[in-house]
Amino acid sequence: MRNIIITIDGPAASGKEKIAKFISRKWKFKHLDSGLLYRRLALILLKDEINDRDLKKIKKRIEKIKKISFQKSKKLRTQEISQLASKIAIHQFVRQYVNNLQYNFVNKHKKIRGFVIDGRDIGSVVFKKADLKLYIEVNSEIRAKRRYKQLIDSGEKSIYRKILKDIKLRDKKDKLRKNSPLVIPDEAHIINNNYSFKNTIVQINKLMENF
Ligand code: DC
Repeated sequence: MRNIIITIDGPAASGKEKIAKFISRKWKFKHLDSGLLYRRLALILLKDEINDRDLKKIKKRIEKIKKISFQKSKKLRTQEISQLASKIAIHQFVRQYVNNLQYNFVNKHKKIRGFVIDGRDIGSVVFKKADLKLYIEVNSEIRAKRRYKQLIDSGEKSIYRKILKDIKLRDKKDKLRKNSPLVIPDEAHIINNNYSFKNTIVQINKLMENF
């Protein structure tokens, strides 16, 4: 039997991860965060001081990678990594590399009942035949406020206006790029995550009824 695939797409800081974690816990599905893979690549390039415009060097470096960790880490969440990940994600060869990591991951775990995978192009490109596609919508001011609170609560210094500017810039990059831009996938259900998480959960529970 084929694994069940649930895709979650949406802009930066829209709550994809929180929703994916909720589904993963409640339905015992494995969670795969595709953004984390772009961030891992960004960290490798940053460590090796490879310029994001030097495509030859990036290609060569990717070819040398033997294994990439799927582990979450706080060091992947910095503004520097966020921006670099968004920059390198415009290139088709980078996207192909990350997509293959996702296909291999799913193929390797045949016995797992289901996967919940979040990103920007999961329902539109990577897993077009998913069993359920979600697209998360939240306005940019609310996203910036939530991200700001998160950073302040974790003891980091942060400026709301800078976060909002960064979110808008990443939205622009994600939506306007030529390769796999952020779009609402065909057949996707739009989740309104502007209100409380309780409200969001009600929408998710309804859609997940058959799983
Ligand atoms: O979801 P995130 O913020 O961790 O993603 C980091 C960057 O990676 C994001 O700005 C764009 C890119 N990304 C992408 O292009 N496609 C995906 N499926 C996931 C992330």
